[in-house]
Amino acid sequence: MTNGQIPSEAEALLQIKDLEVHYATRMGIVKAVDRVSLEVRRGEVLGLVGESGCGKSTLGMALLRLVPPPGKIVGGQIIFDGQDLLALSETEMRKLRGRRISMIFQDPMTCLNPLQRIDDHIIEAIRVHEKGVSRRAAWERAAELVDKLGITSDRLSDYPHQLSGGMRQRVMIGLALALNADLIIADEPTTSLDVIVEAQILELLKELRRAYNLTLILITHNLGVVAELADRVAVMYAGKLVEVADSVPLYDEPLHPYTQGLLKSIPSISLDKRELKVMPGSPPDLINPPPGCRFHPRCPYAMKECSELEPPMKEVRPNRWVACLRY
Ligand SMILES: Nc1ncnc2c1ncn2[C@@H]1O[C@H](COP(=O)(O)OP(=O)(O)OP(=O)(O)O)[C@@H](O)[C@H]1O
Ligand code: SF4
Ligand SMILES: [Mg+2]
Repeated sequence: MTNGQIPSEAEALLQIKDLEVHYATRMGIVKAVDRVSLEVRRGEVLGLVGESGCGKSTLGMALLRLVPPPGKIVGGQIIFDGQDLLALSETEMRKLRGRRISMIFQDPMTCLNPLQRIDDHIIEAIRVHEKGVSRRAAWERAAELVDKLGITSDRLSDYPHQLSGGMRQRVMIGLALALNADLIIADEPTTSLDVIVEAQILELLKELRRAYNLTLILITHNLGVVAELADRVAVMYAGKLVEVADSVPLYDEPLHPYTQGLLKSIPSISLDKRELKVMPGSPPDLINPPPGCRFHPRCPYAMKECSELEPPMKEVRPNRWVACLRY
C-alpha cells in the first residue's frame, strides 16, 4: 500500500513505505510503528501529530536508524533522496546523520556536550561538514549564524548550562543549519519551553524555513504548533497514520473522527474554556491493540464492521488520505 500523497516521485525527498518498528518487551511486542507509508516533499514542513505514545518519536528515530533497543525496524523501506537507508552500512549511516538528516529534540541538553562551549559545538559542525575551513573562518560563520538565531556572539563562549532553554534550542537549530542538513526532524522542539519562548522559537523556524528552504518534519502532540508552521499534517493514532492532508483543509474540515477529536481539544484564546472538549478514553495498549479500526472503542461513529475490518488509507479527495470505513 502506498499513500501516494505526491503527484510525482521527483518531488519527494523522503519516502517511507510500510515501515514497521517493534519493541520486543517482556510483556509482548509493542508495535509502535505499524506499516506506515508517508512522503515528505522537498521544502515542506510536515507536521506529525497524535497523542502521547502513538509512535511519533519512534518513527522519527527510525528515520535515522536510531531506535533504541529493544526497538527494531522489522519491515518496510525508507528511501531518502533516492537511497534506501535500511540497506546502508552503519558507517554510511553515521556519515549521513547530522549532515544530511538532523534531529532536534525536546531537551537540547541531551545533545549538547556540557563540557564544550557553544562556539566549539558550531565550529566542529561546520568543519566536519566542510573540510579545510579554518577555525577562524568557522568562528565567524558561527557568529553570523547565531546572530540570525537571535543570540549575540558574546554568548558563543558560554557553556550549554549558562544558556536558557530557549537559547539552547536556538543553538540546536543553529547546529542543524550549520551542517546544512537536507532534512530536519524536530521532535517536540518547544514542549519544554514556556509559551512566550515557544512562540519566539516558532517565529524563528518560520523565518528560517523561508530563508533556508528547510524541509522539516515537526513532531508534536500540539495541533496549535502545527497549525502555525506546517504545510501538511500527518495524524498518527496507535502506531498507524489515520489522516494525511494539507494543513488548511485539515483544520477547516477534519475528516477522520480522531482528527476531529484532536482539533476539538486544542485550547484557543478565542475559545470559551467551557467549550473545550477532552477526547474521551485513552490510546490503546500497542501490545494488544483493538481489532479492526484501532480507534473504534473511542469513536463516536463506530459501526459494527469497525471492530472487524482494518480501514485502509484511501485518497478520499485530492491530496487527502483518510483511514476510516466511513469513507
Ligand atoms: N524503549 C521502549 N521499550 C518498550 N516500549 C517502548 C519503548 N519506547 C517506546 N515504547 C512504546 O512505543 C510506543 C510509541 O512510543 P513513542 O515514544 O514513539 O510515542 P510518542 O508518540 O513519541 O509519544 P510522546 O508524545 O509521549 O512523546 C509507546 O507505546 C511506548 O510505550
Ligand atoms: S473506521 Fe469506524 S471506528 Fe474507525 S474511525 Fe472510522 S467510523 Fe470510527
Ligand atoms: Mg515522543
